[in-house]
Amino acid sequence: MRAYILKESDSEFRVSASPESVKKMVELGISVNIQTTAGQNSNFSDESYKTSGADIFNNTSDISNADIIIKVNKPTDDEISSMKEGSLFIGSLDPYNSKETLNKLRDKGVTSFAMELMPRITRAQSMDILSSQSNLAGYKAVIDATYLFNKAMPMMMTAAGTIAPAKVMVFGAGVAGLQAIATAKRLGAIVSATDVRMAAKEQVESLGGKFVMVEDDEVQDAETSEGYAKEMSEEFKLKQANLISETLASQDIAICTALIPGKKAPLLISKEQVNSMKPGSIIIDLAAESGGNCECSIAGETNNVNGVKVVGVKNITSTISQDASSLYSKNILNFLGLLIDSETKELSIDWEDEIIKGILVTKNKEITNEEFI
Ligand code: NAI
Repeated sequence: MRAYILKESDSEFRVSASPESVKKMVELGISVNIQTTAGQNSNFSDESYKTSGADIFNNTSDISNADIIIKVNKPTDDEISSMKEGSLFIGSLDPYNSKETLNKLRDKGVTSFAMELMPRITRAQSMDILSSQSNLAGYKAVIDATYLFNKAMPMMMTAAGTIAPAKVMVFGAGVAGLQAIATAKRLGAIVSATDVRMAAKEQVESLGGKFVMVEDDEVQDAETSEGYAKEMSEEFKLKQANLISETLASQDIAICTALIPGKKAPLLISKEQVNSMKPGSIIIDLAAESGGNCECSIAGETNNVNGVKVVGVKNITSTISQDASSLYSKNILNFLGLLIDSETKELSIDWEDEIIKGILVTKNKEITNEEFI
């Protein structure tokens, strides 16, 4: 069984296999091929992959030999046209925004798995790319904010005077948000956070953060069975906006992580609220690519609004590529373990498995998940 790991685009520094995961893939019985310089921006050399048992390939067209094609991001049209019918594609397909790519994979007869659809069950935790990448994103968002902030984070008492600790507010206390809270606390900031899921309250408080939330009947039912947030009513949004207005004006840094799968990100910070913040304040919007939690966010840009820097983050995990690639590779490796029989070392896929069914998007020239037809 031949697996081909593709090099990503120039703007993506991650790679979907590490030398360590390649070694384990070889042990699973896979003959691993990796595109030349694919790991370069994650500090993994072609040599290190060779030492782990991989062969290096140059041309994308070589993937016509592949049984399994692996990538971080969705495949390009060129890559799809080189894939053979019946081969498997594994990667983050961004299925809610990639109708054309899915249709092309379908027409080519490729069986494709969108890793970001991984069900939130205990057995799937080690394969969950959203968790592994969001955790790093939350950490890096605080580090980036610290870099842009022209004040100190912790309280400092010196002979020359006392510096007050920075105040950080985190919007959305999921995987990224909780890591952002933990990181800001470690740096000595005073941290508060908001979410619509009641379950988040205890988690925020256990990290030493203050939980700020609209507590009404609607929050009793704000979480889906998969653990994600639901979209809230207009009435709730108004109450939330009022509450945020009261808190935000006194904050130095806002870290935005609130998302609703498949939908536009909830708008939580209006332009007026940005204007209420002190000059020098920082907003890092991790939701910028999904529409943004802040009205002033422009994806991929830093927008200066009356002295408040609003950073519309694009693919933050690419800026922490070595660790992000290592964890992503581990997620992929664990998923491959589910597809391959450890005795025969051949593909043995249980199409009824909850995980396989959950992330399968194309098979037998059909889109298998009706959400994406
Ligand atoms: P996410 O990335 O979809 O959203 C981030 C956060 O934004 C969530 O906490 C969400 O509740 C919040 N949010 C959405 N709308 C909001 C609004 N209007 N105002 C304020 N906050 C809002 O979610 P994420 O981080 O991927 O996961 C959420 C939860 O799922 C985790 O906290 C965890 O409990 C659970 N989970 C379970 C896993 C498993 O069992 N395998 C793996 C990963 C997460």
